Amino acid sequence: MDYQSIINEIYRDLMFEEDFGQIATYIPELAKVSPNKFGVHLYTHDGFNYSIGDAREKFSIQSISKVFSLSIALSLLGPALWKRVGVEPSGTAFNSIVQLEYERGIPRNPFINPGAIVVADLLVTYLKDTKKEFLEYIRALTGVDTIDYDKDVAKSEQRSGYKNSAHVNMLKSFGNIKNDVEEVLDFYYHQCSLSMTCEELGKAFHKFSDTNSVFSYNGIHLSQSQVKRINAIMLMCGFYDESGEFAFKVGLPGKSGVGGGIVAILPNKYTISVWSPRLNNKGNSYMGVRFLKQFTTRTNQSIF
Ligand code: DON
Repeated sequence: MDYQSIINEIYRDLMFEEDFGQIATYIPELAKVSPNKFGVHLYTHDGFNYSIGDAREKFSIQSISKVFSLSIALSLLGPALWKRVGVEPSGTAFNSIVQLEYERGIPRNPFINPGAIVVADLLVTYLKDTKKEFLEYIRALTGVDTIDYDKDVAKSEQRSGYKNSAHVNMLKSFGNIKNDVEEVLDFYYHQCSLSMTCEELGKAFHKFSDTNSVFSYNGIHLSQSQVKRINAIMLMCGFYDESGEFAFKVGLPGKSGVGGGIVAILPNKYTISVWSPRLNNKGNSYMGVRFLKQFTTRTNQSIF
């Protein structure tokens, strides 16, 4: 398959179309990013790389980081994790709080904000120096030691994260946060602030795209079955209340972030990362979703 030509064609076609959507401004630091950035990187299972545009520029990965934290929690806790967080699509926005009260403090899944905050609490419990060890894990996944948190983005969200403060306090009131709420939020904002390129994300998610081998690093060990489950949750919940539409249009498990990044996986075949900062009304990259829809259509490859 001539992946590079297909990527070039879609990129060129989309360049001529209007990029609808809005850049995320509720985290003030993210509003500074140029809305016209557009990068794509494809990393195949047999080790070939294809890219175009801003694929080697760092951006704020935001909720894409929730796949990394989930993988650590799942490896450390195994099935006990599912007592604290579910695996069902929420049908609500990533930052909605309405379900949390009537479902008594158990978030529907690990990707909506309250679910990711519960996972952050678990990491604060189980990792001694949480921020340091989390960063080392990401560096090991990618093999890139220069990956780091963006302190300005973390601070910016800390100052404006009123909804996340509401989530963590509601969770705490139901006994589903074990640590100090400020410590949990501090780690959560740092994990979301990770600054990575499409290429680096491709390398990291490559470890989750291989259902035939296991990944082990410093006591974190992902079994084949856990990798399979992470993919299932990405398919069902990776795009919040657009997950059904993403599966319908694109047909791949994946995860988005409000920085405009999307990573999607065709298990045992490739990892594809797209970055375009304008978001649709579900908080997912407008151009990113369009690109991936075209990509699985023109390659005629998806999980279905
Ligand atoms: O907590 C937040 O709102 C952000 N740090 C992450 C949200 C996010 O990326 C949702 N993704 N589409």
